[in-house]
Amino acid sequence: MNVQCEKEKYTGKYILGIESSCDDTGIALICDNEILANVVLKQEHKNGVIPEYAARAHHIALFEHARDIIKDCKIDLIAYTSRPGLIGSLFVGANFAKSLAYMLDVPSIGINHLTGHILLPYWLASSSKQKIEFPYLCLLVSGGHTMIVLVKSLIERTILSSTFDDAVGEVFDKVARNIGLDYPGGPHIEKLASQASGEQRHFPKYHFPFVMRNRLEFSFSGLKTAAIEQIDITANQEEKAQFCHAFQAHIAMLLADKMKRIYSKHTDVAHWVVSGGVAANKTIRQELRKEAEVRNITIHYPPIELCMDNGVMIACVGQLFYQQALDQSVEAMLSHKPSAQMGACVMHFNALFYALLEMYFYA
Ligand code: KG4
Ligand code: ZN
Repeated sequence: MNVQCEKEKYTGKYILGIESSCDDTGIALICDNEILANVVLKQEHKNGVIPEYAARAHHIALFEHARDIIKDCKIDLIAYTSRPGLIGSLFVGANFAKSLAYMLDVPSIGINHLTGHILLPYWLASSSKQKIEFPYLCLLVSGGHTMIVLVKSLIERTILSSTFDDAVGEVFDKVARNIGLDYPGGPHIEKLASQASGEQRHFPKYHFPFVMRNRLEFSFSGLKTAAIEQIDITANQEEKAQFCHAFQAHIAMLLADKMKRIYSKHTDVAHWVVSGGVAANKTIRQELRKEAEVRNITIHYPPIELCMDNGVMIACVGQLFYQQALDQSVEAMLSHKPSAQMGACVMHFNALFYALLEMYFYA
């Protein structure tokens, strides 16, 4: 991909976003609230992410694709995912971003991955008619996290509910694996669920426990075990479709129930945001929309292709922080100092990266 940077059209800052917290490598370029490039390189992990393989694949993906994206642009800021995530994957992304920033003589900023998921819908809405106002409630549902967050400003937020054990995306993945579906399991479960017949939808033969019914927190490990015990890989396609349909509907009901409970204590919010990979699920979207509408709440989701990890969500937080001139936060992140032992390791790693980057960009 060769991005044309039309200087006359865009007057703002060109921001490169790099996401490498888990298995997908996201590289994006944004300017003036427009997405100029968005590349997500999916890794093949059959039964779950292998950290060592993931880190190496990020390395290759970044070197192969970043160049085309930034080729004719004058980058102003590089935003990268600094945490949380797999340490090797984060390390590759951060080193690439910092080395590139050093070479281009531009600032870099480490962005919290969760902030990316939480603020992406806010950023997307800021250039549309339906803006999101603070405070808003964000249901963040991904492979690593499940939480409801009260977002008070760009930098202030309170976690109102989170999971005691598994994240909801992880449950989708494990349950999918149990019936022979590939990783990541969520999209496969959704697809199979859509094949359930009308009767199977109305009279499901599979049932799931409503764990922590009267609490604000989530817990999925019991539900995961209950789901895995009801069916296995030998079931036929029809049974699997019926199972997936009932499982997905149960999760949607569960998420909507927690959102309702939390909202009843924060009725001053006028917007709900649902983000993270699991927010791509249409049944979950519909269930939450229904609950939002009866309460006169405006609900926002990222478009399906931006629900899973991507570079736009990192670049946009970089832009929001930059725009708002939150210099303190930027400075704090830029001046992060590793420990002495870690420092030596970083120096070696960086030396290698600088050499590679020089060869690559000045070849
Ligand atoms: O946000 P994300 O890309 O990565 C993390 O930050 O964890 O989320 C990945 C998770 C996976 O567990 C995947 O199975 C789930 O999102 N997911 C879905 C769907 N698409 C992705 N879950 C349910 N339905 C979907 N359509
Ligand atoms: Zn994520």
